[in-house]
Amino acid sequence: MSIIGPSAHFIAANGVLIYNEDVGVHIIKGSLMSLKKAGKKVVIRPYHLSDYQSWKTAYLFIKDKKRNNWDISPRKESELALSEFKKLLKLQNKNREDDYFYDFGIFLKDGTLVGGVSLMDISRQVFQNAYLGYRVFNNHWGMGYGKEAVGLAIQMAFKTLKLHRVEAGIDPGNKRSQALARSLKMRRESLSKKRIFLGGKWLDLELYVMTSEDYGIKWKPGKKKIAHRF
Ligand SMILES: CC(C)(COP(=O)(O)OP(=O)(O)OC[C@H]1O[C@@H](n2cnc3c(N)ncnc32)[C@H](O)[C@@H]1OP(=O)(O)O)[C@@H](O)C(=O)NCCC(=O)NCCS
Repeated sequence: MSIIGPSAHFIAANGVLIYNEDVGVHIIKGSLMSLKKAGKKVVIRPYHLSDYQSWKTAYLFIKDKKRNNWDISPRKESELALSEFKKLLKLQNKNREDDYFYDFGIFLKDGTLVGGVSLMDISRQVFQNAYLGYRVFNNHWGMGYGKEAVGLAIQMAFKTLKLHRVEAGIDPGNKRSQALARSLKMRRESLSKKRIFLGGKWLDLELYVMTSEDYGIKWKPGKKKIAHRF
């Protein structure tokens, strides 16, 4: 269970503190975990309701002109209503509770939102895999925020969520993103043909991967028994 909102904490029926906005503690599938990680420049953490103004400002101030094909566009004021942000928080909370998809805002130390990084479509059981997604708003590119934030998300994947593998599927033309993956020592594993359905077409992706062993952590199975399905 995770709780959002300006309140500082929430006490569960068993008397345990299960959410604190400052430290970002959540209960996911019965385990307490901190979903906040700080580097030298940025902090990654789930959104809080109190982030609404930073979120709105960030999307309004993206430079109008796309800097490359993978850049995101600014949004209209009508798409940035508080009701929309609340819907987003509800969805992100549900996804975290289901241990399925973790979205993190990338914040500067002064609270400015500069982008987002996600551990997506988590497969547990015999895979223990997540797909990495990331974007930095184009008025903040080239400052090292993307690299640091993705590094923190990888740390979250292996140390906090105890995953075994993360994969970033990158468009063959997206040299900037490939440089970011390489600079974090992700391995280019393959060209994955017709991997993603976007804009009405199946597109190829370069697969950049890292395992917990590459990261220096020997993966161990949890207490939960892995189900045999076949
Ligand atoms: C890809 C993206 C996240 C990079 O974010 P960023 O904050 O600008 O990146 P950083 O400043 O942290 O730089 C990270 C690495 O990218 C590379 N890089 C940075 N600026 C670059 C440039 N102008 N040209 C080429 N590579 C560049 C460098 O290798 C750098 O590593 P280094 O510091 O070890 O040299 C950002 O450009 C973005 O959001 N793009 C649009 C969305 C996208 O493509 N997402 C990825 C989908 S797979």
